Amino acid sequence: GKVAVLFGGTSAERAVSLNSGSRVLAALKRQGVDAHPFDPAERALDELRGFDRVFIALHGRHGEDGTIQGVLELMGIPYTGSGVMASALGMDKWRTKLLWKAAGLPVPDYALLNADSDFAEVEEELGLPLFVKPACEGSSIGITMVKRRGDLAAAYALAAKYDPLVIAERGILGGEYTVGILGDQVLPIIKIEPATEFYDYEAKYNRDDTQYRCPCGLPEAQELRIRGQALEAFRVLGGRGWGRVDFLMDEAGNPHFLEVNTSPGMTDHSLVPMAARVAGIDYDALVLRVLALATK
Ligand code: DAL
Ligand code: MG
Repeated sequence: GKVAVLFGGTSAERAVSLNSGSRVLAALKRQGVDAHPFDPAERALDELRGFDRVFIALHGRHGEDGTIQGVLELMGIPYTGSGVMASALGMDKWRTKLLWKAAGLPVPDYALLNADSDFAEVEEELGLPLFVKPACEGSSIGITMVKRRGDLAAAYALAAKYDPLVIAERGILGGEYTVGILGDQVLPIIKIEPATEFYDYEAKYNRDDTQYRCPCGLPEAQELRIRGQALEAFRVLGGRGWGRVDFLMDEAGNPHFLEVNTSPGMTDHSLVPMAARVAGIDYDALVLRVLALATK
């Protein structure tokens, strides 16, 4: 049947989605799928009637947060990835933390910020460096690494431009890692070694000096334990189909889970395609697998 690939959209991650979606579309066409581009920023959603399935390659708000998923539910069209609830929870890093803590999964210490917060006290409590982020963004947009006392207020102001809900998080400095999930399969962990101070937007998409290690170099028992925890983290939120769980390692070798991406990047710099390749699944096969997991 006919497949619509949703990409573009109106979020701050539009450029990333254009990249992801054009590659997904090309992969589907290469494999004989009757796939068509569909940018919700340019067309009314009721034009999706007539499609048999939807591949969601949108990132961020109105694409990864449960809203478009709700529309597709109501229209009765099967779509890739998580449903309404897991998408909404996954977009919100604060509520994700609350659920993970309740489930006994380790998360970095954090504080919620607002304009009246005592920034000096937060700097004192969490220590430096710390990270400030809008609760509902992606691709590190609006995130600042605060290294010096007194810099938290400006970091807050930047993050608050993207979302009224702003989180300050203790810096966990033993390395950045990610785990892809594809159906019942947990992909090998990737270690990310940015040349920048952290894995920001530039390091993610525009620089070619970010190093990716997969296999990530952890001892096998530790890798398997963390992969199990990542799958649990995905399932606690109700994740479905595929996704990616990001975490930081502390100096003692314990993971601290950051967030889940329910519509992970599919660009040529992206992580799920990289891990899938190491697991023997090339980009085209990955795209078909994700599509085959579409449900309504
Ligand atoms: N939010 C970006 C697209 C990612 O997680 O890959
Ligand atoms: Mg994200």
